[in-house]
Amino acid sequence: MPDRYAVIGHPIAHSKSPLIHGLFAQATGQDMVYEAIDGGAGPGGFGRALAAFRAAGGRGMNVTLPFKLEALAAADEASQDARLAGAANALRFEGGRVLAQNFDGIGLVRDIEHNLGLPLAGRRVLLLGAGGATRGALLPLARAGAARIVIANRTATKAEALAHELAPHMGACQVEGGGPDAAGAGQAFDLVLNATSASLGGEAPAVPAAAFAPGALAYDMVYGKGLTPFLKLAQAAGCTRIADGVGMLVEQAAEAFAWWRGVRPDTREVLQRLTVPLV
Ligand code: ATR
Repeated sequence: MPDRYAVIGHPIAHSKSPLIHGLFAQATGQDMVYEAIDGGAGPGGFGRALAAFRAAGGRGMNVTLPFKLEALAAADEASQDARLAGAANALRFEGGRVLAQNFDGIGLVRDIEHNLGLPLAGRRVLLLGAGGATRGALLPLARAGAARIVIANRTATKAEALAHELAPHMGACQVEGGGPDAAGAGQAFDLVLNATSASLGGEAPAVPAAAFAPGALAYDMVYGKGLTPFLKLAQAAGCTRIADGVGMLVEQAAEAFAWWRGVRPDTREVLQRLTVPLV
């Protein structure tokens, strides 16, 4: 019997995870199946689906919106990235215990460094937004050696609080938070990341044109939305390196796969298959 894995979310029909993990399994010769589970909109849906999947012999799960917080709460043991992100996106079931990880930030860093060719050591990073996506990215960006991270958010207090909370864990990386103007005053950044949910509503977060340093990379963490308002804004500001979050999706999947199976799949082919031109 092949080992069983799944992604759980709500809604889930759009998820690319079954395709990605199916391709990884094929390429690495792993005997496994991977399905999509809808946890439903009602209360308790995640817990019931998790229990049923474990009872049926499931070995691990990816977790997507809106269950990442519940997934962490369900864990017996969680990695530092998951604890500080306050959310888990991958679970492993081992000897009656639930282990939790959050690979979103690592996936982001791998995509930026390996696929997009921007080494992060010493870089100045502007992170737009102060929600779950930003929280998950901060530690991995600091570990990769980013020199300075400015979190600019529509609601300044949220960015300030997040910077204050995570700064003690970020080593030599300087972090500060503020409102949309935190990115102003002539500061320029090598990497400008949109971690807000504004793209989903067809909007762009406020960011001054001067924030994009010459040669900067503009990265929108959403995927499958083409040229988002943020990426258009970046282009209008003269930024020529742009990317959406498809590589982050594939790289976090590869991390989860390696954690479950002990084999790291090659991501290049899968990424090529999922990448659509940003127009
Ligand atoms: P996620 O977990 O996906 O990060 P979230 O926790 O709801 O989602 O956070 C969404 C982030 O996007 C927040 O930082 C939010 O700003 P506020 O803290 O001011 O709410 C930001 N955001 C959402 N829509 C936005 C918009 N249209 N313009 C700018 N920022 C926006």
